[in-house]
Amino acid sequence: MFDRDVYVARRRTLMEKMSAGAGDNGIIVFLGNAEAPQNYRGNDYKFRQESSFLYYWGIDEPGFAAILDLDSGDECLFGDDVDIDDIIWMGPQESVASKAARVGANVSAPAADFDKAVLKARARGAKIHFLPTSRYYNTLKLSQLLGVTPEAVRKVESADRPLEDGIVYHASLELVKAVISMRLVKEQCEIDEIDKACEIGWLMHTEARNACRPGVPEQEIVGRMEGVTISKGWGVSFATILSQHGETLHNHRHDGIITPGNLLVIDAGAESNTHYASDFTRTLPCGGKFTPKQKDVYDIVADCNELAFRLAKPGVAYRDVHLAVAARMLDGLKGLGLVTGAVEDMVAEGIAGLFMPHGLGHNMGIDVHDMEDLGEDLVGYDDDQKRSPQLGLGSLRMARRLVPGHVITDEPGIYFVPALISKWKAEGTDKGMVNYQKLQSEYLDFGGIRLEDDLLITADGCRRLGSRRLPITSEDVEAAMLA
Ligand code: GLY
Ligand code: MN
Repeated sequence: MFDRDVYVARRRTLMEKMSAGAGDNGIIVFLGNAEAPQNYRGNDYKFRQESSFLYYWGIDEPGFAAILDLDSGDECLFGDDVDIDDIIWMGPQESVASKAARVGANVSAPAADFDKAVLKARARGAKIHFLPTSRYYNTLKLSQLLGVTPEAVRKVESADRPLEDGIVYHASLELVKAVISMRLVKEQCEIDEIDKACEIGWLMHTEARNACRPGVPEQEIVGRMEGVTISKGWGVSFATILSQHGETLHNHRHDGIITPGNLLVIDAGAESNTHYASDFTRTLPCGGKFTPKQKDVYDIVADCNELAFRLAKPGVAYRDVHLAVAARMLDGLKGLGLVTGAVEDMVAEGIAGLFMPHGLGHNMGIDVHDMEDLGEDLVGYDDDQKRSPQLGLGSLRMARRLVPGHVITDEPGIYFVPALISKWKAEGTDKGMVNYQKLQSEYLDFGGIRLEDDLLITADGCRRLGSRRLPITSEDVEAAMLA
């Protein structure tokens, strides 16, 4: 938890952004997460707090909720004090009032009063602002309290919308936009935490690289990496992606055995103890050295990663960085004889999407894909940047013009996906710009390569997060594997 003043200032800023003036501005409702049973009640998944609750209220425990009253300015934290039965099983616990004081909330109340407060606001027809929920438990809770369907609870619309459909409450567009505007730009205390998460990420990838030797099960490498995250922080920031079939972008199967000649894609990160994320990808040659063909493709991806780092700075739209990377990638692939034509024409036709069917990067913070549940278009796009329908660019999660304090990933990749290559060929998507003959005779069993760093946009450019960088050039990776 940060200092009390951090949470007080965040809630004050949020209230200012949400208060349109005198009158009935309504309330903002925050739902923390509840325990989630894994296989029976009492045997729960490891608890993870709801990210915006954590951001505004700091309390990293189940069963809390909060209300900000935009008219009275009251900030009430709801939760239950423990009774003797709880104390027997959990030991003595700090009171809710004391927890509220630690994050600067001026009022606290039992959990059941939360329901009463929401029902009271509903009865007087007040605006009730809330964020779209990520957990079904909270979706159902709001759905019941507000008398709307679970689908309505997850839909984001203006709290000022006309009531033509008879549905009164949706998640609030005004609140979503206000929260995004705050969480997108990281404070120094958050950057410090992300740096810590990146250090854990460095340690986990170093462990993986040292473990990646012929004959070792992939599962063992995953276990060793994930052990690092628990020993140094909260745990993984997402399910580890580790596979010798890196052409499958999010491959969570770890049933292979490390085999010389293969490439191992490892996309993995950690959460610091305060839940800030890191997210790194490296691709290793399983036998310790890249083949000449692997090295050719690897060096293009490494160049693309470096190019994004050099271009990312305030005022530049990350969409344009994605497009510059696409151009560099196509130029490299042209050098290998896999595509033909003018690079500008290939970029315009979206040919890079055949090789990189994902975006260059995403925002990162308390969520590894930061705030994705608030709506990818609202987080990564704005009036200035609209989403493209093209494969690859269309999957770009962060297109905005960069400002200091943005934390984004830089993760280009080149993949050879046999099914996608066949589809493009059958449908003529490439407009004659792809050399299918070479691709299909030489690259169908290549796999994929992705290289990812985490960037902080600074006043005049960007810096890579974390105090040390994982080896990334093909020469440095080979040297590190032999060490
Ligand atoms: N690290 C997984 C992703 O960015 O999608
Ligand atoms: Mn990522």
